[in-house]
Amino acid sequence: MDKIKVHDKFFNVFISEEMIASRIDELSKQINDDLAGKDLLFIGILNGSFLFAADLFRKIDMDARISFLKLSSYEGTESTGFVRRLIGLNESVKGKTVVVIEDIVDTGKTLEGIITDLRDKEVEGIRVATLLLKPEAYKGDYKVDYVGFEIPNNFVVGFGLDYNGLGRNLRSIYTLSK
Ligand code: IMP
Ligand code: MG
Repeated sequence: MDKIKVHDKFFNVFISEEMIASRIDELSKQINDDLAGKDLLFIGILNGSFLFAADLFRKIDMDARISFLKLSSYEGTESTGFVRRLIGLNESVKGKTVVVIEDIVDTGKTLEGIITDLRDKEVEGIRVATLLLKPEAYKGDYKVDYVGFEIPNNFVVGFGLDYNGLGRNLRSIYTLSK
């Protein structure tokens, strides 16, 4: 299906299921090479990253842990600009190399909050993997380490990303029709 409806809005297919899978494969290879030998903890940011986190983590071929944090800064199709911390981290991060897994980095507010928190906790290193990055919207200083796809500043759904709760189970990524 190339054109779909979620709630009241229409979306067109933008990044296919196959493209997503092959890009995640490439990212996992880079991470396996770059971070070999580290005490690794992946932290998926819920809800949006759960599918990306699962597919990426499945391809990590060394000892690694995974945990999840729940944060939220979005309402409808707009970032509210502040981040609500919904579930904290109860895992010890001290001495670990943490790989933050995001579905999408938009303004970067969410990421900034996470990185600030982690820097206070004596981690060995921080890396960030995001499936999508909107360079035109991103205002952060942190250079995101692993980016699946750079996309224009349009609202997208699918592969974990939602529009007001729906669309997460779409297998491809769709962009809002103009
Ligand atoms: P930021 O804090 O502005 O970078 O926003 C990051 C969070 O907002 C992401 O983790 C997503 O959950 C959500 N988000 C940003 N852009 C989109 C989008 O285009 N579609 C769906 N959710 C989005
Ligand atoms: Mg998110």
